[in-house]
Amino acid sequence: MARTERQRVREIYDRRAASYDRTVGFGERLVIGGLRAALAAELRGDTLEIAIGSGLNLPGYPGHVRRAVGVDLSRGMLVEARRRGRPGGAPLLLAQMDAGHLAFRDASFDTVAISLALCTVPDPAGALREAARVCRPGGRVVLLEHVRSPIWPVALAQRVLSPLQERMLGCHLDRETDDLVRSLGFRVVKERRRLFDIVQLLVTEPDGVRRRETGDGRRETGDGRRETGDRCVGVAIA
Ligand SMILES: C[S@@+](CC[C@H](N)C(=O)[O-])C[C@H]1O[C@@H](n2cnc3c(N)ncnc32)[C@H](O)[C@@H]1O
Repeated sequence: MARTERQRVREIYDRRAASYDRTVGFGERLVIGGLRAALAAELRGDTLEIAIGSGLNLPGYPGHVRRAVGVDLSRGMLVEARRRGRPGGAPLLLAQMDAGHLAFRDASFDTVAISLALCTVPDPAGALREAARVCRPGGRVVLLEHVRSPIWPVALAQRVLSPLQERMLGCHLDRETDDLVRSLGFRVVKERRRLFDIVQLLVTEPDGVRRRETGDGRRETGDGRRETGDRCVGVAIA
């Protein structure tokens, strides 16, 4: 049976997990700089981090994050996140789960964070809809992503380099994630841009996304069927 893109991505990150922090270290400092800390500063209450990876945002989590839950497709990355843990040994629940099918009820979290992962998930729109679904009314979805630059020569370079990056890391260099976020109905309330607008921190209110869903906790799938929001069960990582 043919391997799905999701399986391929999971295998890539399982393989990379132990060396992930080391390999992203230099680029991180150069490009992302303080934006991870800025993302973490937005977190509050019950918080879900989707595609948490090795947990590079965890050291910035404020103490007032009451319940921290992290999910990722890759068990290897989750093992690294478990090793890192939260500052002061505060509780952290980790589970292996697909961003497109979260095993949480609607409106379970005050904040939902995603960083540097919508470039990699096979269905970014599905992951964003799930983030909106599990976020409480008045809550926020906070995104730190690299996107296609609005400056054409830069965008062209991203287009040329993307196939190699997709093969090696499952990472698309030139997705228009910022446009996608807005088109799905997220309201951007704060944003910071860096490096020819490639790197963007978007603090959003997802209430507009939920208003497009049907009102009974179910939503229309693309083909008109309805599906329940909490049908997928994840595997907890102790
Ligand atoms: C480039 S890493 C980023 C990790 C982390 N968020 C960070 O900021 O360092 C991309 C992560 O997305 C995860 N991922 C990719 N597709 C996923 C999916 N469909 N569901 C959950 N996690 C996924 C990968 O396993 C990997 O840990």
